[in-house]
Formats: sequence, structure tokens, C-alpha cells
Amino acid sequence: MIKKPRGTEDILPKDSALWNLIETTAKRVCEKYGYKEIRTPVFEETSLFNRGVGETTDVVQKEMYTFNDKGGRSITLRPEGTASLTRSYIENSLYANPQPTKLYYLISCYRYEKPQSGRLREFHQFGLECFGSENSAADAEIITLALDFFNELKVQGLVLNINSIGCPECKPKYNQALKEYFTSHINDLCDTCKSRLEKNPMRILDCKSTVCHEIAKSAPRMIDYLCDDCSREFESLKKYLDTVGIEYKVDTNIVRGLDYYTRTVFEITSDALGAQSTVCGGGRYNGLVEELGGKPTPGIGFALGIERLILILKNQGTDLPQETVPDIFIATIGDKADMFAQKLVHDLRNLGYHAERDLCSRSVKAQMKYANKLDARYSIVIGDDEVDTNKACIKNMNDGSQYETEITSEAISKIIEKENI
Ligand code: HAM
Repeated sequence: MIKKPRGTEDILPKDSALWNLIETTAKRVCEKYGYKEIRTPVFEETSLFNRGVGETTDVVQKEMYTFNDKGGRSITLRPEGTASLTRSYIENSLYANPQPTKLYYLISCYRYEKPQSGRLREFHQFGLECFGSENSAADAEIITLALDFFNELKVQGLVLNINSIGCPECKPKYNQALKEYFTSHINDLCDTCKSRLEKNPMRILDCKSTVCHEIAKSAPRMIDYLCDDCSREFESLKKYLDTVGIEYKVDTNIVRGLDYYTRTVFEITSDALGAQSTVCGGGRYNGLVEELGGKPTPGIGFALGIERLILILKNQGTDLPQETVPDIFIATIGDKADMFAQKLVHDLRNLGYHAERDLCSRSVKAQMKYANKLDARYSIVIGDDEVDTNKACIKNMNDGSQYETEITSEAISKIIEKENI
């Protein structure tokens, strides 16, 4: 039997109500902050991610789904959204609009990682990007938006960790300090990190190998090397967060796994997640637009993993939304009633009700069993007599009470509405 590829998940109808709630909440919160939805292709030219995400990152070196299409072009399934949005921002001249440009997305992403709880090969992100503002009020605004979103979904126990990883002015000094530190441990580093030492020693800080991770714990900290501008911006971010009462921890170990970050980086973690404890990550990328061929333009954004969010909601026992149930089930006996029910169900649906009828030629007893299984709120049994008199009993399936009613969509609707009150 053919099975789904490793690291992918089917989102079944029983979970769709929750996915819909997450997506509509994301959209509603984004609208409040002036973010507009954008949709970009699932696949892009590979060079976009090589240049955007960075040649020395785990994502580019080990995790991309890259293939040649039938025209011989190298194509990659997007491992994340920021590079794609930056391409789209430049390609569609979105910089010509009043700045900043605030965009959000709900996307699937693809990374060839070792699957485990909270880590998939196809996963989904809710993310956003703000282009054109260098002000740390924008950093504070997107962090506030992320927490507002989690709050609306009643997610508890989250911790916000922030850090600054500097800019092209202060990073070289720091990189030099890192190089010296890691060179003294070179024999213990994994092969990938040995090759990173010259090109990009910061990448060693987020290597997933346990030995490299241990060594990285005592490495020099970027925060001690920040230039005056970066320090000032970091202080100002903290003040903006304080002013709206957002609690945070400064975690100098956050470096993030993608190369485009400058200055602010942050992660939101949950202890309901186990090893993959980061549900949301983001930061500034003031050099990315220029790196991808646009004019120098600052940017900041975040993305959160929807599967990880769902794990938190399930682990913390949140009341999850249920599948919708039929307002009414129309059971039938005989051919005349069958045709009548087809029209009645149609009319009720036109009035906006979730109406169902039997589609599997069941006996009337089996139809009622089925209505029970569907958890229908009301049911009506229609036979020849009911069609002739245009009257039948409508039954409230919760308390068993029955009323005689005309079997028109308007009369049935009145009963459902009256009981709703
Ligand atoms: P990221 O940290 O690579 O950042 O991913 C963001 C979130 O996506 C993670 O915190 C996690 O919840 C989820 N995620 C990542 N990989 C997986 C996986 N294999 N399985 C399940 N969930 C996963 C970015 O992608 C950046 N583009 C975020 C950003 C936007 N920075 C600035 N703007």
C-alpha cells in the first residue's frame, strides 16, 4: 500500500476546525496591525535560497528539496518564507508603496530534516515580514503581534527570548573572537562545523550535533561586541516592550539558523513542546533586500510553526473546536419522500443551514442511527403521508422533544431559530 512520505502529515477533517481557527485568528490579528496577506509560489529558483538563507546554513547545506525541472532549471521547494517574500517585494516594486510594507503569509514549507515530534519535512508556518522600517518600534510591534495571536488562542506558559546579533560593523570583530575560540576546539568539532570555521563561525553556534553544542556553550557572546548603534537599538527595543508590559528574557545564545539576520533576533518557546521547544522565531534582516538585488531596505519578521502550536494546544489540554454538526437530518421512507427530501434539504441549505439526508439507501432505522452518529440537532422522518399532508414531526435530538410542523424550509427554520434562543 502506498503511504504518505516520511515526515509529512495528513490533516484530517477532525483537525480541520482547529486549523481553520488558527488561520482565521492569524488573519484577524494581522488585520489589526495593518498586515496584508501575500501568497508566493511553493517553489522558487534554488539560487534564491542559496543567497537569501545562506550557503553555510543547515537549511541550504543539508535540508533543501532541490531538483532539476524538465527544462533543466534548478528548483527548490521553499524551506521558509522570508527569502520568497523579499524576492516578491523587489520583483513587484512593493517598495514604491508608502513604507513600511507589512505582509503576512500562511504557507507550507519543506525541509529534509530527521522527523520527530514537532519536526516534519512538510510543515506549515504563519509568518509575517515588515519591509522599510529601521525603527525598533517595528521590532516591538511584531513581537507584540505574535504574543497577541498566541493570547487569542489561549496558549499559556510561553517565554519570549530576545538577543541582538549585531550588524556588519560589529560582526567581524565578533567573528574573529569566535574563530579563535573554536580553533582551540577544532579537533572536537563535527566535519560541517570544521568547514564553517573559516567562512561563517557563527553557524557553529546553532549546530545540532551534541558535541558542537556543548563547545558552543562557552563561546564568546555577541552581546559583548555590539557597536554603539546596535546597543542603542537593543536598549530601545527593550523599552518599547516594557512600555506595553511584555515580559522577556535576554538569551545571548540565540543566533538563529539562517544567515540573513542582523541586530534583533527572538524566539518564543514553550515547555509543552519537549526538544523542539521553539514555536516562533524571527528577527531583523537589514541586508537581505540588497543581497537579493534590491535597494538597501531594512526588514524584520517572524514565523511560527503551526504543527508545533497544535502540539502545545493539545498538550496543555485546551478546549479545541469541534467539527460542525448538521442542524437537521431528513430521513425518508419510499420514493415520493426521497424526492421530497432532496428538495427540502436543498431549500434548507439555501437558507444557510447544514442539512443532511441519507445517500446510502439505508432503512429508516439505519438512517436514524446515522443521524445520531452525525450528532444532528434535529431530525424529521418523511413518508408518503407526510408528503401528502405537508406535515411531519420534528424531533430535537438532544432532549427528545417533538413538534408538529409544516415541512417547508421556512417553517423548519422558525423552529430551529426559536430553540437557538
Ligand atoms: P525558523 O526558525 O527556521 O525561521 O522557523 C520558524 C518556525 O517554523 C520554527 O520556530 C518552528 O516552529 C517552525 N519549524 C521550522 N522547521 C520546522 C520543521 N522541520 N518542522 C516543524 N516546524 C518547523 C524561519 O523560517 C524564518 N523565515 C522566520 C523569519 C521570518 N525571520 C524573519 N522573518
